[in-house]
Amino acid sequence: MQENDWIASDRFIEDHLIRSDEAQGETLRANAAAGLPKIDVSTAQGKFLHLLALSIGARKILEIGTLGGFSTVWLARALGPDGRIVTLEFDPKHAEVARANVAREGVAARVDLRVGAALDLLPKLRAEGFGPIDLAFIDADKENNANYFDWALEFSRPGGLIVVDNVIRAGAVADLANMDPMAVGSRALFDRVADSKRVTATALQTVGTKGWDGFLIARVN
Ligand code: SAH
Ligand code: DHB
Ligand code: MG
Repeated sequence: MQENDWIASDRFIEDHLIRSDEAQGETLRANAAAGLPKIDVSTAQGKFLHLLALSIGARKILEIGTLGGFSTVWLARALGPDGRIVTLEFDPKHAEVARANVAREGVAARVDLRVGAALDLLPKLRAEGFGPIDLAFIDADKENNANYFDWALEFSRPGGLIVVDNVIRAGAVADLANMDPMAVGSRALFDRVADSKRVTATALQTVGTKGWDGFLIARVN
């Protein structure tokens, strides 16, 4: 089975390259105990986000879609003690679980978790003078991906990165006949990025414990 091979290879990556002190086993256990959907980034993907943030020396990050904070912690660990990640979450129960995870992992001082619909919270951040950001990770309701890209672009510094999760969806996004709202939303993101002269972008397909999916990565010119 192809999918079993993908999972076995993710395990192999984890066994070799992810130390037990960074694997966040407790975060994933707490998420499962609270009944959160298992849609966090994979461990290998979380470390990839961590590496991206480290590579650009990120000090300020915006995340849209916190869930239990698994990706938040990977990103927060790439920030120095003076760095900040603002993470936006619609579901108060998800946010409560995330707060506990972020505290247990020792990064609470770097994490500013806001509860509400991202499209309501983003204008408030602008009014606060938020930004410029070094990195944005967009991983919430896919229907709004193009809107979230616009906001991320507005907050970004030149050279900053915008990363969007789940832009392949097992081929559904590239299948123009597929009218699933999440596929349509990510298709609109590709159109928006293609039309933008302000970014240099590509997307990478991934396989593993999350099945067949991928990230869009854009660098702000
Ligand atoms: N980034 C997380 C996974 C996020 S799952 C990780 O990898 O660990 C997507 C999250 O987006 C869910 O928790 C969901 O409640 C949240 N979400 C959905 N619609 C939203 C909205 N309009 N505003 C903010 N968050 C939203
Ligand atoms: C879904 C959302 C995600 O962010 C993800 O990584 C996988 C699946 C979903 O809503 O189906
Ligand atoms: Mg996702």
